[in-house]
Amino acid sequence: MSDNQVRLAVIGAGAMGQNHIRFIQEEKGAVLVAIADAYAGAQKVAEKIGVPFYQEATQMMDEVKPDGLLIVTPNKLHLPMAREAVRRHIPVLIEKPISDNLEDAKKFAEEAKTAKVPVLIGQHRRYNPFVNQAKKVIDGGELGKLTVSSFHYMIYKNDSYFDVDWRRQKGAGPILVNLVHDVDLLRYLIGEADAVQGISSSNARGFETEDSAVVNIHFQSDALASMTISDATASPWNWEATAREDPQYRPFEADAYFIGGTKGSLSLPRLHQFQYDGESSWHKPLRMEVAPVDPQLPHKMQLKHFVQVIIGKEEPTVTPTDNVKTLQTLTAIKQATETREIVTI
Ligand SMILES: NC(=O)c1ccc[n+]([C@@H]2O[C@H](COP(=O)([O-])OP(=O)(O)OC[C@H]3O[C@@H](n4cnc5c(N)ncnc54)[C@H](O)[C@@H]3O)[C@@H](O)[C@H]2O)c1
Repeated sequence: MSDNQVRLAVIGAGAMGQNHIRFIQEEKGAVLVAIADAYAGAQKVAEKIGVPFYQEATQMMDEVKPDGLLIVTPNKLHLPMAREAVRRHIPVLIEKPISDNLEDAKKFAEEAKTAKVPVLIGQHRRYNPFVNQAKKVIDGGELGKLTVSSFHYMIYKNDSYFDVDWRRQKGAGPILVNLVHDVDLLRYLIGEADAVQGISSSNARGFETEDSAVVNIHFQSDALASMTISDATASPWNWEATAREDPQYRPFEADAYFIGGTKGSLSLPRLHQFQYDGESSWHKPLRMEVAPVDPQLPHKMQLKHFVQVIIGKEEPTVTPTDNVKTLQTLTAIKQATETREIVTI
């Protein structure tokens, strides 16, 4: 450990927690100082690395006094753990989604603001250089006025994934389980939505929860977007299979998001940008350009950002208040697909 490394602890050493632990070990600006997990079997993860292990997260906070904490527990524990950290003035990175309870998330967002303790929500795709290039193109006006866009989450989850009861029941389904990242990027790239309508189906698997849905979105700017959502569709048109962020997914040369405007359009993650020379016209040839961007693992970039947040050099890019808006949009989408009515946000 050196003086200029921040001391980080991880709460929850499950599948994602172990990824974060690996990223911390690879980050020059940080050192892992402790792991807490309610499951005693997680002790072997800490032993292998040679850091103290605690079954009680609050005891770890009090004894180790880390400079920053990563909360990688099941969603319902995010806020109880984060409140303990904020009470102790420990900056915290909370895995997405901030909570599974919108009202509690709103309450916590206010509490964190009042306490003035930095809280970052783990919407890691925001650190993907391809996303940031797209943001630059859109905000720089290169696509003109945004008109229509389409975002796809069309994937096939293996059938054995559904052997676990809760994954077949109400409250699960791809909208609540998987769409948080896509909705966060939809907001980041296009803006705030103010109304959604949708329809869902459980026809492919026949479970209580949906396996497929289509959603239409209206934005405050008057732009429009649609989302096609399915975890029972054998297709490469999803971020997971195309963005090369996670080695669990075999990468395909395809796109998941298509963003359109009056002057041009852009697909992601490949960044195929289409534009006319001069005035737009359907009779003129479209030019395609691909901006050269160096790929980076967004989780690693997120960790670097968290280190900068802890030492006071950067402000959290995804605050609780920001993530509450993602949760609000997601909740509206779920409600719209269940009621088949237009839901305003
Ligand atoms: N950003 C991403 O790419 C990404 C990917 C997967 C999961 N996640 C998020 O990460 C979080 C964890 O997901 P996961 O798939 O790793 O789950 P998991 O079940 O594999 O791991 C959760 C861990 O938390 C531990 N835990 C439970 N109660 C605890 C307590 N009271 N104190 C300390 N530890 C406790 C469990 O024992 C387990 O080891 C979720 O919020 C999920 O949404 C994010």
